[in-house]
Amino acid sequence: MIGSLLPTAVTIVGIMNSASLFSALESVIKKPSPFSVYTAKELWTDEHTSEQMLAYHLNSEIDLSSRRTSFIDDSVHWMTECFDLSESSRIIDFGCGPGLYTSRFARLGAEVFGIDFSSRSIAYAREFAAQNGLEISYTEADYLEYQPEGEFDLITMIMCDYCALSPTQRAAMLVKFNELLLDGGRIVLDVYSLNAFADKKEESIYEKNQLNGFWSAEPYYGFVSSFKYDQEMVSLDKYTIIERNRQREVFNWLQYFTLESLEQEASAAGLEIDEVYGDVAGKQYDSGAMEFAVVMRTALGK
Ligand SMILES: C[S@@+](CC[C@H](N)C(=O)[O-])C[C@H]1O[C@@H](n2cnc3c(N)ncnc32)[C@H](O)[C@@H]1O
Repeated sequence: MIGSLLPTAVTIVGIMNSASLFSALESVIKKPSPFSVYTAKELWTDEHTSEQMLAYHLNSEIDLSSRRTSFIDDSVHWMTECFDLSESSRIIDFGCGPGLYTSRFARLGAEVFGIDFSSRSIAYAREFAAQNGLEISYTEADYLEYQPEGEFDLITMIMCDYCALSPTQRAAMLVKFNELLLDGGRIVLDVYSLNAFADKKEESIYEKNQLNGFWSAEPYYGFVSSFKYDQEMVSLDKYTIIERNRQREVFNWLQYFTLESLEQEASAAGLEIDEVYGDVAGKQYDSGAMEFAVVMRTALGK
């Protein structure tokens, strides 16, 4: 009797497990509406991932989190020449990370401000400034909420961070930037182009300890579901990280731009695009490239 019951019991347990696993996997690959969730803080400020991110920022040879050192040197050199930066300039960097650009601006003698919500990066930036005798005002804050005081000659947001924001967040940031500009001041930011959007693939990948333990020091299963939104020119890498006692979802959204779509956003905030480049080091604009950079200013006649 017992022998004939056993297979039935095993089958029922099997069915229950497979039903809950099935619905969990359905949720992993579910496509949300564009920019419906904002989880940037989870990515940049989590105790474990922020440590990985800082290591990427400080790796002078790779373009992850921050660009390589030679590029940053070129970029600050270009901005210094282009905007005539000097000890009388006021410069503010949104999403400054560990201060790779701010510390170079400070060496010009300029008055420099950096904002970032990663306490690990801000702590590194403050320590670096102190050790190198640089005066830089760092604020640990969410730049979507933080309102800096004063006005600035140069506002920067570098490494395509603008693309990670929703349309509403981008509109608010551009209005804030415009309010913060001194007469003749400029905004520099870079964005992904439609070529990068065309290159992006929709796919689902599953991996144990995905990205070599990037998400946790504990063992975990990582799923990434990548989606494209053709009409909106948006992509999403949705990460689901499953540890023994914790499950997290991180949504990495990206907006891709044409020059025209970026111009429209600038114009809605009372700004205009003054100049277009291939990158924030002043490379020539290339319509076939994955990224481009712009210099914005308050719209003339405002
Ligand atoms: C891609 S990294 C670029 C860092 C720096 N601009 C560079 O190029 O070296 C983006 C930075 O923006 C910060 N960040 C992202 N969203 C933020 C927010 N809402 N408020 C403040 N900082 C933010 C992250 O912590 C990270 O340091």
